[in-house]
Amino acid sequence: MENNKYLTFALTKGRLANKTLELLESIGITCEEMKDKNTRKLIFVNEELKLKFFLAKGPDVPTYVEYGAADIGVVGKDTLLEEGKRVYEVLDLGFGKCRMCVCGPKSAGELLKHHEMIRVCSKYPNIAKDYFYNKKQQTVDIIKLNGSVELGPIVSLGDVIVDIVETGSTLRENGLEVLEEICPLSARMIVNQVSMQMESVRIKKLINDLRSVLENNK
Ligand code: PRP
Repeated sequence: MENNKYLTFALTKGRLANKTLELLESIGITCEEMKDKNTRKLIFVNEELKLKFFLAKGPDVPTYVEYGAADIGVVGKDTLLEEGKRVYEVLDLGFGKCRMCVCGPKSAGELLKHHEMIRVCSKYPNIAKDYFYNKKQQTVDIIKLNGSVELGPIVSLGDVIVDIVETGSTLRENGLEVLEEICPLSARMIVNQVSMQMESVRIKKLINDLRSVLENNK
């Protein structure tokens, strides 16, 4: 029996979406409509393969997938940890690699050793809370910021930050360093829990095809 249901992908706008589209092309999944850089369209369709794609802000991708507005999503592990949504994480896509770290001026290293009450600035309050409260058992004051988090210790808003480190150049240029590593990060494919049951044949084939390409690229 022919399956007429569309599988919908929510992709994280920007570099992760571009990398995801490249990867999907390598297994024969393309979306020509999406290549038009001037388009104002928000949702793109591949009629032949019965696929739909849309672009969203990173923190919204797990929300679309949890509620089933998208069957599949691609998002950074940082966002998955922070948002804590009920979705299946099925594949590490291997790109967008970076690390979640506690960073600050060298002098702040001492404050981490003696379980002092410190102020932590972060765009990721849940990750920071989990790390300090559950893993380190250190009581801290967490201050949520929305970007340029490195400013926190520079202007004395906080003692340290919990943030993503990729090349380390933002830290270096601002006199900060990695004090502790929390976890490695990369782009992940996530799947809605109901879609995984209802569309298991199509979704499992997609996962297996992607896994083979990723293995061969290693
Ligand atoms: C991210 C992150 C760091 C920087 C790390 O910020 O929050 O600031 O990149 O990259 P690097 O180690 O290669 O320097 P982003 O550029 O996303 O902007 P934001 O500060 O507004 O969050």
